[in-house]
Amino acid sequence: MIFTVAVDGPAAAGKGTISRALAGHFGFAHLDTGLLYRAVGAKGGDPVAAAQGLTPGDLARDDLRSLAAGEAASRVAAIPAVRAALVAFQRDFARREGGAVLDGRDIGTVICPGAEVKLFVTASPEVRAHRRWLEVGGDEAQVLAEVIARDARDMNRAEAPLRPAADAVLIDTSSLSIDEAVARAAALVAARRG
Ligand code: CDP
Repeated sequence: MIFTVAVDGPAAAGKGTISRALAGHFGFAHLDTGLLYRAVGAKGGDPVAAAQGLTPGDLARDDLRSLAAGEAASRVAAIPAVRAALVAFQRDFARREGGAVLDGRDIGTVICPGAEVKLFVTASPEVRAHRRWLEVGGDEAQVLAEVIARDARDMNRAEAPLRPAADAVLIDTSSLSIDEAVARAAALVAARRG
């Protein structure tokens, strides 16, 4: 059974939580594609060489979730050759036997335009910054400024900008609980699977 769920959206919208829950519920594999860009940014040196030579060890670093790693990820993610180096791995993952959920920025638009289900998960910048602040702490106003700056960079880059696919279903999690958001997403997957 080949079945791909593409989950895109801006930082801290709830993509990861929804994707992990869907994968667990339906027995699909899950790939957090942001981790690939975070690992490339964290590796330092030439980002294109880093993307081409990415190893499982690079993805296992424990510092990839920091705000600084997110910032570095969004910078290297604007480089077309970096994105190109990561396409085949993501597409192979998406079409593996047993079903897959991939979350990121360009899954429904570029990586898997034929995905069986496409979700665009979003929330207001204030809600997203508050969630990120609960994870990382520090000055909440600064976290908000960084979230807004990263969104702008992701949406305005020339290569694979963040935007919903034409046929994506929008889930705004600003005033949804995790359970409500997951239930909405799971209902869409269940309906498509028949
Ligand atoms: O968890 P959060 O949403 O903050 O970030 P992430 O999903 O780990 O992504 C970090 C950065 O990687 C994003 O800001 C994007 O610039 C980039 N990214 C991308 O360009 N394409 C993807 N499919 C996933 C992430």
